[in-house]
Amino acid sequence: MPNISLKNLLARTAVEESVSMECVPKTFAGLPLYGLILVVIGVIILLTVLILELVLLPKRRKLSKEIKKNLLTHAVVTGGSSGIGLAVAKELVKNDCKYITLIARNESKLNKAKEELDAYVTTNDKKSIIQVYSVDVGVVDKVTKAAEDICTSSDVPCPTMLFNVAGTSSSAAFVSTDFQEFERLMNINYLGTAYVTRAFLPYMMKKEGTDENHPRSIMFTSSQAGQLGVFGYTAYSASKYALKGFAEALQMEVGRENITVQLSFPPDTDTPGFEEENKDKPEETRLISETSGLFSAEQVASKMVKSALQKRPPFNVYFGLEGWMLANLTAGMSPVHSILDAIVQIFFKGLLRFISLFYLFDFRNIVHKVGKKRRAEKSE
Ligand SMILES: NC(=O)c1ccc[n+]([C@@H]2O[C@H](COP(=O)([O-])OP(=O)(O)OC[C@H]3O[C@@H](n4cnc5c(N)ncnc54)[C@H](OP(=O)(O)O)[C@@H]3O)[C@@H](O)[C@H]2O)c1
Repeated sequence: MPNISLKNLLARTAVEESVSMECVPKTFAGLPLYGLILVVIGVIILLTVLILELVLLPKRRKLSKEIKKNLLTHAVVTGGSSGIGLAVAKELVKNDCKYITLIARNESKLNKAKEELDAYVTTNDKKSIIQVYSVDVGVVDKVTKAAEDICTSSDVPCPTMLFNVAGTSSSAAFVSTDFQEFERLMNINYLGTAYVTRAFLPYMMKKEGTDENHPRSIMFTSSQAGQLGVFGYTAYSASKYALKGFAEALQMEVGRENITVQLSFPPDTDTPGFEEENKDKPEETRLISETSGLFSAEQVASKMVKSALQKRPPFNVYFGLEGWMLANLTAGMSPVHSILDAIVQIFFKGLLRFISLFYLFDFRNIVHKVGKKRRAEKSE
C-alpha cells in the first residue's frame, strides 16, 4: 500500500515543482522565455506608440476655451429639420454654439424644428440663435445662392462648422430597384454633400483667417452601408461609399488651413427617415442591419459633435463595437488619429478580418434562408 501521509505528499509536490521550474527555459538575464517574449512585445508596442504620437499622427490642435468658442461660432447643419440632423443641432446648443443654421427642403418641418430648438434654448438657459433656410441640397444653383445668403448676412458670422447630414435611403433588391433611384440617392447623398461643401468652403476659409486660433470643421454623414455593401443597398451603399473618396481627398487639401474633415458611419438609427425606410425594407436587409443594433439619434449626434470638438478629431467617426471593427477593417489609406486604432490596424487587423468572416458567414446564411423561405411561400 503506498504511503500517502501529508508529509510525503508535501515533499513530493516540492520535488515536482522544482523539477517543473527547471524545465522552464531560462534566457537573457535569467528571465523565462515567455517573460522575455512579453517584454519584447511591450517594447515594440511602446516604441510604436512613441513613433505614432511624436511623428506619424497629426498633431493635437490647441483647443483652449477661447479657441473652442471660435469653433462654435456658427454651425450649418444640413438635414437639420429631422432625425440625426436635428439631434446634432440640439447637441450644438448644449455646447453653446452661438449661431445654428438648419438647412432642409420642407419649410414647415424646418419651422417646427426651429420652435423645438428655441424652446430647448429657453428651458436650458442657453444663448444659441437658430435660423432656418429651405433649399434642396441636390440643386447646385440653389445651393450656391443659399451659401451666399447665409454667409454674407451682416448679422451672422461666416460658418465655422458644417455638418452635412441631409440624406435619404431606400432599399430593394437590385433587380427591383427603379432606374431613377440610383440617380436620386446619388444626387442627395453624394452630390448634395459635395455641392454644399463646395459652396460653403470658400466662405469658411476667409474672414478671420484659418490660423490655429480659428479652427473650422466639416463633417460628412455616410453610413455603415458605406463601409460594407449590404443586400438591398446597391443604390444606397454606392452613394455613401462615394463620400469616403471625397472626404479622404478633401482632408488632404484643407488640413493645412486648419479645417478638419470627418466622416461618420452611423448604424441603424431611430429617426423618422429610418421609420420610413423600414416600411418596405427587404427582410434580408433588415436582419443583416440589425446585427449592429439600433442607436438613438441623440447617441449618434452626441458622438458626432464630441468628435468634431476633440483636440485630435478622428477622421472616421464610428459607433458601437461593430462600427469600431468595421472602421479599423476598412481603414485602407485613410488617416488615423487615435493611437489605439492605429495599434489595432498595425497589429490586429488579421484577427479582425478572421472575425469578420464569421459575420459574412452569418450574412450569407441569412440571405440563403430568407430566399429559401420565399421560394417555399411562392410554391405553396
Ligand atoms: N437613420 C439611420 O438609420 C441612418 C443610418 C445611417 C446613415 N444615416 C444617414 O444619416 C442622415 C440623416 O438620416 P435620418 O435618418 O436622420 O433622416 P431623416 O429623419 O429622414 O432626416 C433627413 C433630413 O435631411 C433633409 N433632406 C433630405 N433630402 C434633402 C434634400 N434633397 N435637400 C435638403 N435637405 C434634405 C430632410 O428634410 P426635407 O425632407 O424637408 O428636405 C431631413 O431634415 C442621412 O444622410 C442618412 O443617410 C441614417
